[in-house]
Amino acid sequence: MENIISLGLEHVVVAQTDLSLVDGQNGLLVYRNHWARDLAINHTFEEVAHLLWYGHLPSAAELKALQDKLVAQRELPAFVKTALDAIPADTDMMSALRTGVSLLGTEAFAAWPPTLEQVISLTAKVPTIVAYRYARLEGREPVNPRADLDHTANYLYMLKGEVPQAAHVRALDAYLILTQEHGLNASTFAGRVVASTRSDLISSVTAAIGALKGPLHGGAPSEVTEMIEAIGSKENAEPWMRAKLEAGERLMGFGHRVYRTYDPRAKALSTISSELAGDDPWFALAVHVEEVGLRLLKEYKPNRPLNTNVEFYAAAVMRAIGLPDALFTPSFAVSRTVGWCAHILEAASGRIIRPQSTYTGVMPE
Ligand code: CMC
Repeated sequence: MENIISLGLEHVVVAQTDLSLVDGQNGLLVYRNHWARDLAINHTFEEVAHLLWYGHLPSAAELKALQDKLVAQRELPAFVKTALDAIPADTDMMSALRTGVSLLGTEAFAAWPPTLEQVISLTAKVPTIVAYRYARLEGREPVNPRADLDHTANYLYMLKGEVPQAAHVRALDAYLILTQEHGLNASTFAGRVVASTRSDLISSVTAAIGALKGPLHGGAPSEVTEMIEAIGSKENAEPWMRAKLEAGERLMGFGHRVYRTYDPRAKALSTISSELAGDDPWFALAVHVEEVGLRLLKEYKPNRPLNTNVEFYAAAVMRAIGLPDALFTPSFAVSRTVGWCAHILEAASGRIIRPQSTYTGVMPE
């Protein structure tokens, strides 16, 4: 059979999934049989995680059972804290998170196939690792998780050391729900590749975190805020962005492999961030930068419909609730852990993923 070459695996389908539909032509996102947008407005992090892991939204009793299990698993083992403390201060948050998750790969996580108990334990611990590391970098004593707070509220509480405002929890919850799952994005694919070898949950998620870190994937939102800071004023938006495009560089927060129209997650997050931001001049500048960016991308890349992606307004939401750039991608990991785990559970019984390469080197004499 003749090999098909698709650099970047564009248009190649390598998995069947019941978890989500990303309809790039129409800008639609479905988690199982629900619109992701509706889930973000009407449900909580834990309810949507239940939907993805167990296949349905929970009853009140099922929700309580899942919440209790998550709460019980939030604490980090002492050796993980010690090891996190030993990581040099100049190590970035995502590398520290990758290492922290890797450290969890002890006996409790060794079993194959992975179990829902493992998935719940890991999902509960990821926010604690992020908050622990962040507190240390800030020179503060890490804040212990609080059992009376839900997943998102507890995450914000551990980051800030005070019970967060309800509006901030709601906005972050919506962001975390909208980014829990997204088909075979690069990090989920990386996780599924490792899972397809029948390795273990922790190895699979460690690989996924490595992929998420890249600026073309989950590393983009902090680069969006850097871009808006660098632009600085409405007048400077067009010359600044034009110069980038003339130099062949990319504008962060725009473009997507699958969406050929506006990313539905960006649409939902733009509404949420505009409500939170009020008349914040930073937000007004961001909206202007988006308008100019979209116009210039049409001019410079007429053959590739480039639209705003989720990262553009993810940056705006996180900034509005007072999270610094260093926490943008780690917060993405907090949510995507749910989707990674769901895919790894699904991939556990599949075939090994093993594509091919074409040799372009020289043959021996
Ligand atoms: N700014 C300027 N040009 C762009 C951009 C952009 N943001 N995105 C794509 N292009 C151009 C690219 O240079 C190429 O032009 P040409 O055909 O002339 O060489 C054309 O559009 C197609 O780009 P591509 O790299 O083949 O597209 P891709 O599907 O491989 O890449 C992407 C998708 C998201 C990596 C890319 O659009 C990008 O680098 N965007 C900026 C980074 C970003 O915002 N990433 C977040 C992605 S959304 C969430 C997530 O995945 O985590």
